[in-house]
Amino acid sequence: MTFPLPFFREISLLVDFVIFFQGIVMGLIQAIRGMNDILPNEIAWWQRVEQTARMVMEDFGYYEIRTPVLEKLELFARSIGESTDIVEKEMYAFADRKGDLVSLRPEATASIVRALIQHNLHADPLVRKFYAIGPMFRHERPQKGRYRQFHQIDVEAFGVDDPMLDAEVIYMLRLFLERLGLVGVVLHLNSLGCPSCRSSYRILLQSYLADHAETLCPDCERRRHTNPLRVFDCKVERCQSVLGDAPILGDSICEECASHFARVKSYLSQLQTPFLVNPRMVRGLDYYMRTTFEVITDQLGAQNAIGGGGRYNGLVKDLGGPDIPGIGFAIGMERLILLLQQNQQVGTPSPRIFVAALGEASRTRGFLLLQELRKEGLAADMEYEGRSLKSQMRRADKLAAQHVVIIGENELSRGEAQIRDMINKTQNVLSLDRIVPTLLEMCGKDRKSSNG
Ligand code: HAM
Repeated sequence: MTFPLPFFREISLLVDFVIFFQGIVMGLIQAIRGMNDILPNEIAWWQRVEQTARMVMEDFGYYEIRTPVLEKLELFARSIGESTDIVEKEMYAFADRKGDLVSLRPEATASIVRALIQHNLHADPLVRKFYAIGPMFRHERPQKGRYRQFHQIDVEAFGVDDPMLDAEVIYMLRLFLERLGLVGVVLHLNSLGCPSCRSSYRILLQSYLADHAETLCPDCERRRHTNPLRVFDCKVERCQSVLGDAPILGDSICEECASHFARVKSYLSQLQTPFLVNPRMVRGLDYYMRTTFEVITDQLGAQNAIGGGGRYNGLVKDLGGPDIPGIGFAIGMERLILLLQQNQQVGTPSPRIFVAALGEASRTRGFLLLQELRKEGLAADMEYEGRSLKSQMRRADKLAAQHVVIIGENELSRGEAQIRDMINKTQNVLSLDRIVPTLLEMCGKDRKSSNG
């Protein structure tokens, strides 16, 4: 009898709940709500996603960068925007022991821009494209696909204003998702114009919102004066209904921005990358201008954005650097992996070789052989409990080992061991000094050390 995947997910939710409840009753220390352990049985997904990201990003000429998880609060307030949900409501911000205001990073763009300016990286014409993988922190209400610690794969490219780069960045995102075999996502695309076309739109929007002021929630009522575009981020139903008939930014953008957007769309079409123009998508961060995009799924409920990004030409200058353009995106790894898990299966990594030994002298010989195998780059394991051969074979089976090296007392006295092929169920006797080269050959690997 086979069970559908959701069945196992329900069961595992139930188990999580029972463990959580037991924890409360017994006073055990639990992880902070919304901050998850990533357990060994899930790690293969994470490794696959990270490896694929590194391969794709490096093929496109991006260099990895790692920045601290804690930064000065001002960095995020000045870049993401004082009146965004992230800065107003979601930052893990606090005064440190010296009283300096700091925050766990809610995203990576601001930190990468800071590092670019601080280390003068923009001066090097080669190293202007970066990627980063790591945890971000936002104090949101946790639910499926929305966590307080989550992980992003983030990409940033600096110094090029040409719409060709916009199309290339989006194409790279598409290729990455395709390499992972992700299907059924839609690319939403918009242009937010430049500061000058946005200021005329701001007047239009403010006057429209003034006509509907009595319907808006208190947050939006405040934002219509300070930062009216942020009203589009509001999830409150009555604000959403007001926005249905609001003026559209796309109708106000200047000729230069319109031509930039037209070229982005044309390159994307030539790259056979489908997109949907969504004139109401404004993204939740203030630094964007011109091209913005999001990858949307209908398979994760309310948390429907797998990733998003856009152009931010003024940001480097605003943070004290030279006036150079930038564009990038970030993918939420938890959401991506949830979606992959709903559609695919991936195994947990397991050792390919298991060493089973009987008797003290054989165990010592097996232990030395095990380290030799690992030194040659072969994933191998044994057990240290001194159990019977039958139970060692059971362990090898459970680990899905492909080969078992069996060293009994008799074999050892003859300087031999057996190799059992667990897939074909065949067994061969070999002299002990032939074991490593034979297994290397069987596993299709080259010898790593010259003295082993
Ligand atoms: P963002 O849209 O705020 O953009 O986040 C990017 C992605 O991170 C989202 O699409 C989502 O998949 C994931 N994400 C965000 N919040 C959470 C959460 N609480 N739990 C789980 N996943 C989450 C940025 O962060 C920009 N820095 C992207 C960017 C890079 N723009 C230009 N360069």
